[in-house]
Amino acid sequence: MQTSVIKATSLYKTVSTKQENLTILKDINLEIEAGESVAIVGTSGAGKSTLMTLLAGLDTPSEGDVELLGQRLSHLDDEARAKIRSESVGFVFQSFLLIPSLSAIDNVTLPCLLKSEAEDKQRAKELLESVGLGHRISHSPAQLSGGEQQRVALARAFMIEPKILFADEPTGNLDQKTAAKVIDLLFELNKKHGTTLVLVTHDMALAAKCDRTITIQAGQLEA
Ligand SMILES: Nc1ncnc2c1ncn2[C@@H]1O[C@H](COP(=O)(O)OP(=O)(O)OP(=O)(O)O)[C@@H](O)[C@H]1O
Ligand SMILES: [Mg+2]
Repeated sequence: MQTSVIKATSLYKTVSTKQENLTILKDINLEIEAGESVAIVGTSGAGKSTLMTLLAGLDTPSEGDVELLGQRLSHLDDEARAKIRSESVGFVFQSFLLIPSLSAIDNVTLPCLLKSEAEDKQRAKELLESVGLGHRISHSPAQLSGGEQQRVALARAFMIEPKILFADEPTGNLDQKTAAKVIDLLFELNKKHGTTLVLVTHDMALAAKCDRTITIQAGQLEA
């Protein structure tokens, strides 16, 4: 039975800089099953964020292919890839990518608009409360601290109950108590809705909670 929701085959990523052609990822092969939680770990600069953007179809590999939810991304145009993302994929990035002109709560309901769903302000409010921001829903990103912006980004990612959630250092800027809350939310999504989690993390306690850990070193997977 084919249940993998992410399948990467011979992925390479090479970028040109002024001095050289730099290979950031080399021959990455991996498969992630529906409902799995997977931690991607490795030292700074190893290629974790680059790998995540390729798996999520936000960037294209130099060689190789990614199958996301049964679709080969190289066979799709930008619009079709964007459709899969807006319907089924949630993200939390290292840089939070909130819309500066929107309040916290409007940032959280944004994925509904992208999905052409009625916005559910009540749910957005509950999600913001669950990440400890019930008192900040009308603030704009510029009026929030780094950790608060990260929590808004998390609430936004949970909004559509994605099939796959990609999170790059989701607890990186949070204090221990808030981080623990966010981790509980992540795994609650995973258990309740069968959301597949792909988490880039330096937090070994978080990695240990995942079904599996993938280690990346200098652009290659460690056996
Ligand atoms: N567009 C680019 N041009 C040149 N080099 C790049 C580019 N993008 C990434 N790199 C390099 O590729 C390597 C991997 O970057 P990446 O962001 O994937 O690392 P990472 O494992 O996520 O690190 P961190 O834990 O610090 O976030 C780094 O050495 C980085 O400098
Ligand atoms: Mg990174």
